[in-house]
Amino acid sequence: MNESTISGGVDVIKQEALAVIDSASTTEELAYIESQFLGRSGALNELRKSIGKLPPEDRPHFGKAINEAAGEVSQRLEYRRTELKKRELAAQLAAESIDISLPGDPLPSGGLHPLTQTSDRVKEVLSGMGFEFVDGPELEEYAYNFAALNYPEDHPAMDEQNSFFITDTRLLRTQTTALQGRVMAERRPPFRIATIGRCFRYEAVDATHHHTFHQVDVFMVDEKISMADLKGTLGAFARELFGPETLVRFRPDFFPFVEPGVDYSISWQGRWLELGGAGLIHPNILRAYGINTERYSGFAFGLGIERIHMIRTGVNDLRMYLENDMRFLRQF
Ligand code: FA5
Repeated sequence: MNESTISGGVDVIKQEALAVIDSASTTEELAYIESQFLGRSGALNELRKSIGKLPPEDRPHFGKAINEAAGEVSQRLEYRRTELKKRELAAQLAAESIDISLPGDPLPSGGLHPLTQTSDRVKEVLSGMGFEFVDGPELEEYAYNFAALNYPEDHPAMDEQNSFFITDTRLLRTQTTALQGRVMAERRPPFRIATIGRCFRYEAVDATHHHTFHQVDVFMVDEKISMADLKGTLGAFARELFGPETLVRFRPDFFPFVEPGVDYSISWQGRWLELGGAGLIHPNILRAYGINTERYSGFAFGLGIERIHMIRTGVNDLRMYLENDMRFLRQF
């Protein structure tokens, strides 16, 4: 083997390498080509091993030719790699791109429970009339639920509100009126208070009664509060909730914590519908909390939140509010 044959061999290998590099279509292919020509047992290195077969004077020239060929091949490899990388990145971006102009998948939207909506409306109306909302506990003391409200021991009025007793002195409140004593123990008149919350009674469940229901209670104490204030306030409240033509009717009724006591109804589509109980706060209660009854008097009224929603919408079975049937709830 003489020097020119070997130089010719270098050139052939180089040309072949450059051609396959140019025609490679992926960086992966390029890596394989690199190992074939420039790798440890690649074509150019194999050629380099034959250097010893040349006469000593030809060796430098031959070595230089191989180095130059290797340099040229590796330069072309880098050039092509950059080109192919760019192309591959563009393809990847195109494949992964998101069309932001497409409409999104609609998310199911939630809604407020009809009793929450009703409570919110009641709060809005009463707040607008100057009543401050205060929360009471659902697990209540017998003292506030009954005793402080002027129920004598073993009075039959308690039978109307059969209770879930948790201990001898604590029960699930049967009426939000229980807040009255808590407020009067802490505040001095004048005050206007309202509260909304869950109540519980040990009752047979039917279309108009549940063991768990909601009430709103409203009371105010100030100088010279009379039945006229009660009727005026209830009238305004009812007209806000049921429409401007609504009338309110009082009939005598008994609750131990009011004197006189009434139940009241509203006019609705030609009929009287009973809403709840009301009256002037019994002087015994005011006195028990050290409020001077010569100077102060107050009124109180309470009603069911379910009842308000039922009248307004025509729902005829109160049990549905607690069943969480979406077909019912979605209507509101
Ligand atoms: C009371 O609970 C009195 N605290 C109301 C009151 C307040 C009177 C202030 C005077 C002064 P009554 O038991 O009638 O009263 O209940 C009032 C309303 O709560 C009823 O009209 C009804 O709408 C609702 N309610 C009572 N019991 C149930 C029940 N088991 N299920 C659903 N709603 C009920």
